[in-house]
Amino acid sequence: MKTLLVTGGAGFIGANFVHYWLATHPQDKVVVLDALTYAGNMASLSSVVNHPHFTFVKGDICDSALVEKYLRDYSVHTLVHFAAESHVDRSITGPDAFIETNILGTYSLLKAAKKVWLDGPKTLEHRFHHVSTDEVYGTLSATDPAFTEDTAYAPNSPYSASKASSDHLVRAYHHTYGLNVTTSNCSNNYGPYHFPEKLIPLVITHILHNKPLPIYGDGQQIRDWLYVTDHAYGIDLVINKGRVGENYNIGGNNEWANIDIVKTVCALMDAQFNQHPTLKTQFPEASAAHKNDSASLITYVKDRPGHDRRYAIDATKTFNELGYQPKESFETGIAKTVEWYLQNEDWWRAVMDGSYQNYIDEQYKG
Ligand code: NAD
Ligand code: TYD
Repeated sequence: MKTLLVTGGAGFIGANFVHYWLATHPQDKVVVLDALTYAGNMASLSSVVNHPHFTFVKGDICDSALVEKYLRDYSVHTLVHFAAESHVDRSITGPDAFIETNILGTYSLLKAAKKVWLDGPKTLEHRFHHVSTDEVYGTLSATDPAFTEDTAYAPNSPYSASKASSDHLVRAYHHTYGLNVTTSNCSNNYGPYHFPEKLIPLVITHILHNKPLPIYGDGQQIRDWLYVTDHAYGIDLVINKGRVGENYNIGGNNEWANIDIVKTVCALMDAQFNQHPTLKTQFPEASAAHKNDSASLITYVKDRPGHDRRYAIDATKTFNELGYQPKESFETGIAKTVEWYLQNEDWWRAVMDGSYQNYIDEQYKG
């Protein structure tokens, strides 16, 4: 039995990870530390709040003394660090929060972990797992080989630069102080509880409101998409079998141009409206979907500044060393995701409040 401290556990991937971990490691205890920023949502944890092995504490990872206290109070053995500002577009309009949370927040966690696990009378058994992204490697052309763990970091957005910086700090705490760290660099996730400012949930919720589906630039930018539970599974393998001090790439081997992803989601939404006539009553605003023509909402808009052209992950090391392979196919994962949003209207309506609307109006004005 061990106790995990999961930072950012009320966010998209963190919440899915908590559900995954409680289901697959019933003997372990999970403590979530989350500041509940605009992206944090207790509703994503509602089915586990009364679980006997689950605890939620509200707090900021930048508060090192608080983190130290929780590491001691809960006798934490494994820290899994998801908490971050995660949206590239927000990092372009307001980088400050990214520097604070992603860089200083990670530094604060490392300081607390060193103090509790290494600086006492005896070194305690521990693991610090840092969740990073493929975006730290920069951008690829259509023909470049995929990123490996040896690809030099070349981040291009304030978001990816802040994540790269945190990755370096994690690495340094291992090399300098002997902290037992691992880092995973994962591609774009999709699935339940995804905040609707990100591409896939934005498209689903916009179809339901008959709003334009904004495609940046020419829509030919390529991302590798992984079902979120497969990310949780990959992190599980890294924590339990990964070598300390190493980075592991996690990816879906599933590259798609943005425009093709959006068209796929449109087709799935149309099929749902076709198969389930009650959806027309449930979502009276979704008039393009009523006509099986969601793709008519596709609208090309001004490109994101510095938009990375292509990300692709080579996860050979993770496969060879840990036996990692995604379990969900894209076909089943994306269909499940569309169904989840149709069945969980309360969840996404609650997060699309005033501040969300202000963000959308500002981001897509003109
Ligand atoms: P998210 O934005 O959905 O969630 C972030 C969570 O962190 C929220 O619950 C928020 O309240 C919390 N948080 C933010 N600042 C905090 C602070 N100062 N103290 C405590 N909690 C704070 O993000 P996500 O998409 O779930 O991403 C989680 C992690 O995975 C991030 O580190 C991100 O870089 C990484 N990642 C994301 C993707 C992706 O496709 N979303 C892919 C690869 C890696
Ligand atoms: P996003 O979900 O923001 O993830 P990331 O930028 O971390 O990859 O975006 C995924 C891709 O979709 C990215 O290339 C930007 C593009 N995109 C659009 O074309 N339109 C949009 O409205 C959004 C939010 C993203």
